[in-house]
Amino acid sequence: MSCCGLIGTFCTFVVLIQTVLGVFRWIYENILGPRFGKSINFSSYGRWALVTGATDGIGKEYAKSLAQRGMNIILVSRTLSKLEAVAKEIQEAYNVDTAVIDVDFTSGPEIYEKVKDRIKGKEIGVLVNNVGVSYSCPDFFLAIPDREKLIQDIIRCNITSMAMMCSIILPQMVQRQKGIIINIASMSAVVPASNLTIYSASKAFADKFSKDLAAEYEKVGVIIQSVCPGFVATNMTKMKKGSFMAPLPKQFVEAALKTVGFAGHTAGYIPHCLMQVSAQFLQFIAPGLSRSITLKTMANVRNRQIKRGLYTSATN
Ligand SMILES: NC(=O)c1ccc[n+]([C@@H]2O[C@H](COP(=O)([O-])OP(=O)(O)OC[C@H]3O[C@@H](n4cnc5c(N)ncnc54)[C@H](OP(=O)(O)O)[C@@H]3O)[C@@H](O)[C@H]2O)c1
Ligand SMILES: *[C@@H]1O[C@H](CO)[C@@H](O)[C@H](O)[C@H]1NC(C)=O
Ligand SMILES: *[C@@H]1O[C@H](CO)[C@@H](O)[C@H](O)[C@H]1NC(C)=O
Ligand SMILES: *[C@@H]1O[C@H](CO)[C@@H](O)[C@H](O)[C@H]1NC(C)=O
Ligand SMILES: *[C@@H]1O[C@H](CO)[C@@H](O)[C@H](O)[C@H]1NC(C)=O
Repeated sequence: MSCCGLIGTFCTFVVLIQTVLGVFRWIYENILGPRFGKSINFSSYGRWALVTGATDGIGKEYAKSLAQRGMNIILVSRTLSKLEAVAKEIQEAYNVDTAVIDVDFTSGPEIYEKVKDRIKGKEIGVLVNNVGVSYSCPDFFLAIPDREKLIQDIIRCNITSMAMMCSIILPQMVQRQKGIIINIASMSAVVPASNLTIYSASKAFADKFSKDLAAEYEKVGVIIQSVCPGFVATNMTKMKKGSFMAPLPKQFVEAALKTVGFAGHTAGYIPHCLMQVSAQFLQFIAPGLSRSITLKTMANVRNRQIKRGLYTSATN
């Protein structure tokens, strides 16, 4: 065989092996493991779970689902009255203890002193970094209303909060040699997401941060997972009813919790997983087409909101 023939055969072989391994790993992590594997006993990781952005949407469902699994819950978000209402609801429904911490994650570093103070003496087995602000509507960077404030809010709320909460809680997990950290990123972190630039870049931080942190601490028994959901029907997406592609938070979180311990990085919910691989495949074979499809989708979302009178672009 000629030299070129050999190289060709070798390359084909490598691509084939990688593809087969990739497909099997994906099926195990997202479908077989969660469905047939031994599910995680969350309460064996510690008595308490702490959830940020816990009074609505995805965060509230994480709080409820972990309480249902027997964990005491620390709820963290901005509005004290909502926190108290959700804490009461959880206590009554699941007969567990709750604590609340009201902080606005868009504020400065002083809020983390309050968090440290309020969690003193609590053994935290599970941390869910869910809080996040997004655009009220996808748009070009320079067309974002009140752009400079949104930039600060997103970075403080999405990036700083995740790193700081890990910095506060990871030490006790490392000391006990067990713990679970779930970081909520977004599919926009891994597929083209023009018109959501600051948001999608902040989600890429979440995803990359989780993967590299996992490499550092999984050896000592801390599970770190990044979850990259597609659309979920919450206030953030201004959807009221769930659908197959945009599930209700409860459906989404039940599916996502089952992947903990199997997948270090997942979309969490099978239709979203499939959408994500399709998008990545399209990006690989036809990047231009992929970009223009994103732009069209974003424009549709925006036009719908403009039509419903929910949004106006800035003009600069
Ligand atoms: N929904 C989706 O389609 C989707 C898709 C991909 C990723 N995600 C991600 O999933 C996460 C949750 O989204 P969601 O749709 O569930 O959101 P949501 O329904 O809007 O809930 C947001 C939660 O965060 C709290 N919060 C908001 N701003 C805060 C601040 N500045 N300080 C403290 N707490 C604050 C809110 O509490 P208060 O209002 O009481 O302050 C509320 O509990 C986000 O990280 C988002 O990026 C969502
Ligand atoms: C899970 O772990 C807790 C604490 O270690 C234990 O009390 C409980 O029985 C376990 N539950 C199951 C289903 O194994
Ligand atoms: C901030 O984080 C929240 C929750 O993780 C997410 O929904 C939101 O899109 C993020 N915003 C930005 C700008 O990254
Ligand atoms: C959206 O927010 C409103 C008011 O804050 C709340 O009553 C409602 O339950 C929220 N909807 C969802 C789907 O979380
Ligand atoms: C991004 O937003 C601009 C308007 O601000 C719109 O004209 C454009 O079509 C959008 N692009 C995409 C890909 O959504």
